[in-house]
Amino acid sequence: MQVVTTIAETRAALRELRARQGTVGLVPTMGALHAGHISLIRASRAQCNVTVASIFVNPTQFGPNEDFSKYPRTFDEDCRLLEQEGVDLLFAPAAVEMYPPGASTIVEVEGISDRLDGVSRPGHFRGVATVVAKLFHIVGPDRAFFGQKDAAQVAVLRSMVRDLNFPLEIVVCPTVRETDGLALSSRNRYLSAEERKRALILRRALAEMEESVKQGEIQSASLIESGLKILAREPEVRLDYLRIVDPDTLEDIGDIRNGALVAIAAWVGSTRLIDNVLIKPQ
Ligand code: PAJ
Repeated sequence: MQVVTTIAETRAALRELRARQGTVGLVPTMGALHAGHISLIRASRAQCNVTVASIFVNPTQFGPNEDFSKYPRTFDEDCRLLEQEGVDLLFAPAAVEMYPPGASTIVEVEGISDRLDGVSRPGHFRGVATVVAKLFHIVGPDRAFFGQKDAAQVAVLRSMVRDLNFPLEIVVCPTVRETDGLALSSRNRYLSAEERKRALILRRALAEMEESVKQGEIQSASLIESGLKILAREPEVRLDYLRIVDPDTLEDIGDIRNGALVAIAAWVGSTRLIDNVLIKPQ
């Protein structure tokens, strides 16, 4: 695996790789890699001739009181994992390479960026859209791989790709979970043993709502009511949102007949966790 830190090196390496081998897959990450990230790498390896990963803890997607400075950074271990998975090129820039002094252009996907996580994390999706647009320009992938775990991020990036005519396909991979159901996240390492147990209530609430759908419930209001009842069992878990929305627009919907995204975010101690389930049209 070739490891590069500058945009110029990345472009030069890709010119060669693309000419020799063909289609390029990109897996953008912020590092602290786990099996969820690795599932994206494997999907790219299966679908593309060349796989590029990026590791960049993107400062512009963190709010002033968020965890940017304490975000886990495990670069050596990440490199070992990516090498083992057969990644061809790792782009790991410093912040000044991505945002040199004077950088003032942003990508804002209006409307959708103010929904779900965009409400309690203002500016978050602007940071995500800006950095991912830059990565798309730097790497020029044929396919880019993202996790369903960050469903709102997927909706924002799909809109960006459509609106700005990026010539690539976004591939969304299923959420990878621990055996007890907790969605893998780099932030899970912040949880104490007690909090780790409490965090399971997110998945439990979603599973219960999914079960109600199987039993024939289609009204969002009743589904949310049953989800909230489950969450009330863990009063220490502080809900940010529990919503049933259109997976493309992230707008609330009254019933799940045409498919729905059931999304949840909550603070467990000082750690904010998210999870979701996608309900297929009936
Ligand atoms: P990060 O949180 O490192 O996640 C990188 C990718 O891994 C995202 O597409 C995310 O959805 C996916 N992922 C995380 N946990 C997952 C899980 N349990 N199962 C499947 N996929 C999972 O998301 C970001 O970084 C950043 O916002 C980024 C897109 C890199 C832009 O900075």
